[in-house]
Amino acid sequence: AGPCDLYSSGGTPCVAAHSTTRALYSAFSGALYQVKRASDSTTTTIAPLSAGGVANAAAQDTFCAGTTCLITIIYDQSGRGNHLTQAPPGGFNGPDVSGYDNLASAIGAPVTLNGQKAYGVFISPGTGYRNNAVSGTATGDAAEGMYAVLDGTHYNGACCFDYGNAETNSHDTGNGHMEAIYFGDNTVWGTGSGSGPWVMADLENGLFSGASSGANTADPSVSYRFLTSIVKGEANHWAIRGGNAASGSLSTYYSGVRPTASGYNPMSKEGAIILGIGGDNSNGAQGTFYEGVMTSGYPTDATEASVQANIVAAKYATTSLTSGTAFTAGSSISLRATTSGYTTRYLAHTGATVNTQVVTSSSTTALKQQASWTVVMGLGNSACFSFESVDTPGSYLRHYNFVLVLNADDGTKQFYEDATFCPQSGLSGTGSSIRSWSYPTRYFRHYTNLLYVASDGGVDTFDATASFVDDVSWAISTGFA
Ligand code: AHR
Ligand code: AHR
Ligand code: AHR
Repeated sequence: AGPCDLYSSGGTPCVAAHSTTRALYSAFSGALYQVKRASDSTTTTIAPLSAGGVANAAAQDTFCAGTTCLITIIYDQSGRGNHLTQAPPGGFNGPDVSGYDNLASAIGAPVTLNGQKAYGVFISPGTGYRNNAVSGTATGDAAEGMYAVLDGTHYNGACCFDYGNAETNSHDTGNGHMEAIYFGDNTVWGTGSGSGPWVMADLENGLFSGASSGANTADPSVSYRFLTSIVKGEANHWAIRGGNAASGSLSTYYSGVRPTASGYNPMSKEGAIILGIGGDNSNGAQGTFYEGVMTSGYPTDATEASVQANIVAAKYATTSLTSGTAFTAGSSISLRATTSGYTTRYLAHTGATVNTQVVTSSSTTALKQQASWTVVMGLGNSACFSFESVDTPGSYLRHYNFVLVLNADDGTKQFYEDATFCPQSGLSGTGSSIRSWSYPTRYFRHYTNLLYVASDGGVDTFDATASFVDDVSWAISTGFA
């Protein structure tokens, strides 16, 4: 059985079921998600390898070879057509064309399920999915349940990495107009014990960790690499639950009455579905989503226990974030441009500015050092790498406003994440492409001989499609110094 078969047996059927990693019904063999590639703007759908099975990631890898892919649609497996697509502008604009949010990279969150590769949805700030024209989700004070499997190590404090029920017009229409799972360490509204991240309920104009606004210490900080998160609600009763998606059972972090602050009892749920954003399209948050559902009716703890057992049996595990030429921590490397006409230029820096410069064996020692980089374990993720300046130890390549710069380590989580990059086989078929860990649609790219983290076909000038795959493919050699 799949999670939605178990919810059906419990009398609380799925009305939305989303996953890029696996079928959530044992009989489901249709499309799980759609990807679009930059090379020719065509799309393909990815289905399970077999009914009820794991997504056919190999089909994605073949389709996306030598280019970049975005996840354009996350299909609803429930049959109700509650698909998730690029979120439109609302109370806040997104960064993409016409105020839409960005779409997620198709390769930002690789995992295995029972040893078979699949990809989750890696939400960088600015990324979001939504469906405002829903069928069958809870409205008003009607009962519903939700779960989502997330990466408990990928979060931030911005508003709001959510999955669940929200406004149908993408605006803040008042307290109680949402009921969604929130995950992160935002402290503007509720908090739990410790410093976070926490599973909370986004009920609109408030992230709730319990009945009272503000701190509820029974809601623990949770950072399981694979996290099962649950929010469910019915008339004057709701709960937050969670656990390790890779083993064991669920715990209840809150179960009780609705908040007494005005507007939350009864609820005024509208039934739209959001992923990665707040109800009003607040889009500063980050997180990773693997699978999740919304139900009709309030699921019992017993039903959720069987769903949790099903998730554990799916055996989520980590897998490599890199490919191609192996990078070795402690080594010094150079990165040579491979774009025709620029092949004598190397990734270098002039102060904080990162550029390409012509370097030869007769260049000065100073220039050779400016074009040499010490590979270190990724400051924000040990499965990837950071690049320390040879002539300015303690300073690392990091992106800021999507410009690549050389900055001193300031000890912040933001810096560590901005300075973490995952090398992969070069998109042009030569060398290596260096993907931003935190924005996996983006790669080291030279553009007018300056360095950016660029996404193919994005909104900035340096995202231009012309010569993109060449500009992001670097010949890696031993450093000059
Ligand atoms: O409830 C927290 C956030 O407040 C909601 O997600 C958003 O709509 C509003 O800004
Ligand atoms: O480069 C994009 C973002 O710009 C970085 O993550 C952040 O540090 C800055 O605001
Ligand atoms: O960085 C040099 C060139 O500048 C790139 O190849 C091109 O994309 C841009 O015009």
